Amino acid sequence: MSGAAWSPDSWTGDAFQALQMPIYPDADALNAATTQIASFPPLVFAGEARNLTAELARVAEGKAFLLQGGDCAESFAEFHPNNIRDTFRVILQMAVVLTFASKLPTVKVGRMAGQFAKPRSANTETIDGVELPSYRGDNVNDIAFTPEARIPDPQRMIRGYSQSAATLNLLRAFAGGGYANLHQVHRWTHDFMGKSPWAERYRDVADRIGEALEFMAACGIDSDSVPQLKATSFYTSHEALLLPYEQAMTRQDSLTGDWYDTSAHMLWIGDRTRFEGSAHVEFLRGIGNPIGMKCGPSLEPDALLRLLDVLNPGRVPGRMTLITRYGHDKIEAALPALVRAVKREGHPVVWSCDPMHGNVIKAANGYKTRPFDRILAEVRGFFAVHRAEGTHAGGIHTEMTGQNVTECTGGGVEITEQGLADRYHTHCDPRLNAGQSLELAFLLAEMLNEEMGQRRRAA
Ligand code: TRP
Ligand code: MN
Repeated sequence: MSGAAWSPDSWTGDAFQALQMPIYPDADALNAATTQIASFPPLVFAGEARNLTAELARVAEGKAFLLQGGDCAESFAEFHPNNIRDTFRVILQMAVVLTFASKLPTVKVGRMAGQFAKPRSANTETIDGVELPSYRGDNVNDIAFTPEARIPDPQRMIRGYSQSAATLNLLRAFAGGGYANLHQVHRWTHDFMGKSPWAERYRDVADRIGEALEFMAACGIDSDSVPQLKATSFYTSHEALLLPYEQAMTRQDSLTGDWYDTSAHMLWIGDRTRFEGSAHVEFLRGIGNPIGMKCGPSLEPDALLRLLDVLNPGRVPGRMTLITRYGHDKIEAALPALVRAVKREGHPVVWSCDPMHGNVIKAANGYKTRPFDRILAEVRGFFAVHRAEGTHAGGIHTEMTGQNVTECTGGGVEITEQGLADRYHTHCDPRLNAGQSLELAFLLAEMLNEEMGQRRRAA
């Protein structure tokens, strides 16, 4: 289908299969909502999306590292400036640790300011013999288990837009307004992390950065003379699942005439919707934003290559990020075939590791959780495969929060299966808490450092 004409609504054509889409009972109400959204200001500017593509092209070359993370699902209930700030500062902490260890720039992308819609494994959910439509994310319906709550309501897209706009506004303020100034590196810690062994290692890194900054300042280099020290680029992303919303946010760039989905800088396509003939693939192929694609165990190398030809026929570096999600026990067997096929065909992709979604288990007490050691094991496997294949382990994709939640077991401040009940707040999948995220960053830093050492020796 790659040669066919594209328009923001071509995905609605009969040739395409639109999975995971809500059925709105009132077509007029849906139309009214999307018409209104189409008249709202874009959330991001096309030039920003192009900048991200350029930064990701550096990642594809092995000259930068991608850090993408945030909530599994954002929610209307948890919308609070402190939550946004706390997630943002864990990302800053992780980025600093990674940059300091690897001496590579870190491209920071939040699963934030628009990550509402959720794919579900079943259309309905049954509790105590009562069957209702599944919850599909706060921009579709309500998580409460009542018939009214589960009816898809198009007005929720408008609320999602408003929350995204306000979130993005705060993130932009943090990124550019002083909060992200490297001189603040000691202040990005969380009070509750005092007990974590990794908090101490973080202080050590922060001390060394502080010292380097003082030395540079004495040499006349400070954040007045070098603005890169006082600001950072922060990008947003979410799964492009709810196509009526994404279509309404898609605008033609006045500078280039190209189409961009202005709901976020980067959009990704999930493992359940990335098949040939998918309406989601059809939609994404026409937008100029950088695109992520989740790759799980069911993806054959040939199918992957055909999808890459559809989504990136021009082989633009930085356009495609392949986000692998296999599970700690499958990655080393399955990933090499994909990596070899992509390398052989010369597609310039970013390889990023999602160590979250292949490692979900149900604890004895019924909580859905992810054992931290399996998350780390998948990351290790990911690096091992890329080392063996001579490709770059380019990035990480995590579900995390700055809150002190107890959703994934394990980690430096050990969370047990019993302890999950203490602060289990997620609207969807279990997230790493701030301490576990930092611990993951240190492990990544170690592996990146090793890779850089190898490269220096080889050069
Ligand atoms: N501007 C650089 C960057 O974003 C340096 C920097 C400033 C930075 N603030 C930061 C790096 C916070 C990591 C975290 O990479
Ligand atoms: Mn998830």
